[in-house]
Amino acid sequence: MQVVEDVEERDGIRLSWNVWPSSRIEATRTVVPISALYVPFKEREDLPPVLYEPVTCKACRSILNPYCQIDVRGKLWICPFCLSRNAFPPHYKDISNTNLPAELLPKYTTIEYTLSRPVQVPPIFLFVVDTCLEPEDFEALKETITLGLSLLPPNALVGLITFGTMTQVHEIGFNACPKSYVFRGTKDYSPGQISAMLGITPRSTTLPSQQQQRPGQPHGAARFLQPVQDAEFQLTSILDNLSRDPWPVASDKRSLRCTGAALSVAVGILENSFPNSGARIMTFVGGPATEGPGMVVSNELREPIRSHHDIERDSVKHFKRATRFYESLAKRASSNGHVVDIYAGCLDQIGLLEMKSLSNLTNGALVLSDSFATSIFKQSFQRLFEKDEFGNLKMGFNATMDVQTSKELKVSGAIGHLTSAQKKSACVGETEIGVGQTSAWKIGSINPRTTLGVYFEVVSPSGQPVQQNSRGLIQFITHYQSSSGQYKLRVTTIARNFADAGSPAIAASFDQEAAAVLMARIAVFKAEIDDSPDVLRWLDRMLIRLCQKFADYHKEDPTSFRLSENFGIYPQFMFHLRRSQFLQVFNNSPDETAFYRHILNEEDVNNSLVMIQPTLMSFSLEGPPQPVLLDSISIKNDVILLLDTFFHILIWHGETIAQWRKANYQDQEGYENFKELLELPISDAQDLLADRFPIPRYVVCDQGGSQARFLLSKLNPSTTHMSGGIYGSQNAAGQAIFTDDVSLQVFMEHLKRLAVGASTS
Ligand SMILES: *[C@@H]1O[C@H](CO)[C@@H](O)[C@H](O)[C@H]1NC(C)=O
Ligand SMILES: *[C@@H]1O[C@H](CO)[C@@H](O)[C@H](O)[C@H]1NC(C)=O
Ligand SMILES: *[C@@H]1O[C@H](CO)[C@@H](O)[C@H](O)[C@H]1NC(C)=O
Ligand SMILES: *[C@@H]1O[C@H](CO)[C@@H](O)[C@H](O)[C@H]1NC(C)=O
Ligand SMILES: [Zn+2]
Repeated sequence: MQVVEDVEERDGIRLSWNVWPSSRIEATRTVVPISALYVPFKEREDLPPVLYEPVTCKACRSILNPYCQIDVRGKLWICPFCLSRNAFPPHYKDISNTNLPAELLPKYTTIEYTLSRPVQVPPIFLFVVDTCLEPEDFEALKETITLGLSLLPPNALVGLITFGTMTQVHEIGFNACPKSYVFRGTKDYSPGQISAMLGITPRSTTLPSQQQQRPGQPHGAARFLQPVQDAEFQLTSILDNLSRDPWPVASDKRSLRCTGAALSVAVGILENSFPNSGARIMTFVGGPATEGPGMVVSNELREPIRSHHDIERDSVKHFKRATRFYESLAKRASSNGHVVDIYAGCLDQIGLLEMKSLSNLTNGALVLSDSFATSIFKQSFQRLFEKDEFGNLKMGFNATMDVQTSKELKVSGAIGHLTSAQKKSACVGETEIGVGQTSAWKIGSINPRTTLGVYFEVVSPSGQPVQQNSRGLIQFITHYQSSSGQYKLRVTTIARNFADAGSPAIAASFDQEAAAVLMARIAVFKAEIDDSPDVLRWLDRMLIRLCQKFADYHKEDPTSFRLSENFGIYPQFMFHLRRSQFLQVFNNSPDETAFYRHILNEEDVNNSLVMIQPTLMSFSLEGPPQPVLLDSISIKNDVILLLDTFFHILIWHGETIAQWRKANYQDQEGYENFKELLELPISDAQDLLADRFPIPRYVVCDQGGSQARFLLSKLNPSTTHMSGGIYGSQNAAGQAIFTDDVSLQVFMEHLKRLAVGASTS
């Protein structure tokens, strides 16, 4: 699949199908929709600097690209999306076949324009900090935030809100003696009340630009949001002086923590003062909200925080109200282009399930750690501020993505951390997958990992199949504010051929890896709405139909069943997806489920596949390290295993290895190879950790140790193989077609029988 990888490298895109069925009916029969995983902010060092404005089609606003027909004599181009003829702008008068602007060259199917309109407001970072923390945690958090300040662009505006029993908004505008404004924790203040209390007049805010800053005189939002280059010292000293929440907490109580009220104040301030400008609310939470709007549990410790079972039984007192509260905040933030990050430093749950829409709808970061003193938190936080070769944050703000399609295709929807921009263009289709009924979406912030799943349908005009050998086009247009203070427009245009029903080209163009991830996103999207058995049944049906369509077999003869290579591991991905923490929730807390699902919707094909089907490497003295099956047969006494689930990196020592290690063979002369064997997986693990976000949990354990259960839970249970009999009888309505803890081998046998239409009992 070299070609697929080149396209991914160049355009940041992977498609489920690279040749498309030419009629709606045939597209339905191919089961997996035409769909794309697109990375709009993919790092590309070889992109040419394009410092002029894009040429757009006057009718549909699509952008000039290498697939446009051009007429160099008539100085015209034909829009391949709406077929309008457009005149080139006057400064393109010298265009000729040997003198073409970059955007018309075949190699620039992805191009990024730096627009001339300057960005008025630098990026804004508003820190919202929990003060109900243990002393060690609190100090670690203050230190990390202080470090974070030093990583921001000097002109970035920063502000600080702290919360515990109450919310405090800290004034940082050049007063010798800084004060703060206190908001009650139990009250949901309206945006109007917030601005009145803080003296921020909506939309008439003075911009804190260099000229306007006169010490002692700032007003409006500038009292709370100052350029970090001016305010760093003061903010650092406020943080230093900050004390923990002063209210006493009885031993049978939780701290009173008004997370919801604090977030509502944060969203309100930004909404009033900087709507539609790039801004990031960074929320640090050390426990559940226990009072006021958005409370998820009472402060009585004898009331445990909800579990999946409680939610399923619909018996959680605060669940719906809290969820609705955070959703409405999330929508407000998202519609203003603002991002909300949540960093949890807590052994227990913080109510992320209720709060997740804040990050989900704004593409905010989510980091779950046991405490703010852990390296998972500290390093993940720092990684967010990674810079490119020019010293700019690898972070774009207030992003929107538009999709254009040629007439044979329509957009069904998108799945990722986005909200609809309500653009009902002619490209919008009837079918809805994910966030649909629009051809544009808002993405609060983008980073090099941001990956959006976009789904399409084929529409053949007036029921006729698309003409043979014609090709369809898709254009992705992403507009964002860069941290360097410019607007950028990234344009990726792709074209793929249509083929007739039955053409082998369609099957040959299947990208099973991309398809598995795109289907996983649909499954998780459904799982957020439906019960998980329904979702598993849907996945099973899709898999069986795909096999029925594309496998070779004789009817009713399971032994004749063959899948070609590019479909060969797809069933295995589905097997692991069904077993994964994305769809099986009961081994995790509701907060963990929300977290895992969030990250799956963020990452590209490779990383998502690791989450769906973890990788396992085996190290032994017998030979070089090798990838081994994610199966209990890979467990051996004399090997070291390195398991990567994306969220966890685990090194497991077989019994013999562990004994030798405990006997310190690695320190003895003549056992250098053993020493090396112990070190190799550690250095491989470091490589895996190098560019992950958030930082995975790192576990080292021995065979038989308690942590080893984690490895076992991920392995295919082939050595505890169940008999086929138990299984075949479970095909009754109300049951998932495949039972949950069955081995891959049994799963495949069953799949073959169902696909070829043989009896299953
Ligand atoms: C921090 O505390 C010190 C000593 O109590 C005080 O002098 C200083 O003004 C305080 N700084 C801020 C920013 O509150
Ligand atoms: C932010 O994005 C919206 C589109 O979603 C756009 O209308 C607005 O102009 C952008 N803000 C700025 C300051 O450019
Ligand atoms: C994100 O939010 C949308 C809309 O509320 C929801 O449908 C989707 O399932 C959510 N995704 C996750 C991973 O929570
Ligand atoms: C994905 O993994 C393959 C195989 O390891 C690698 O060749 C490819 O470069 C990776 N792609 C990306 C975008 O990281
Ligand atoms: Zn057009």
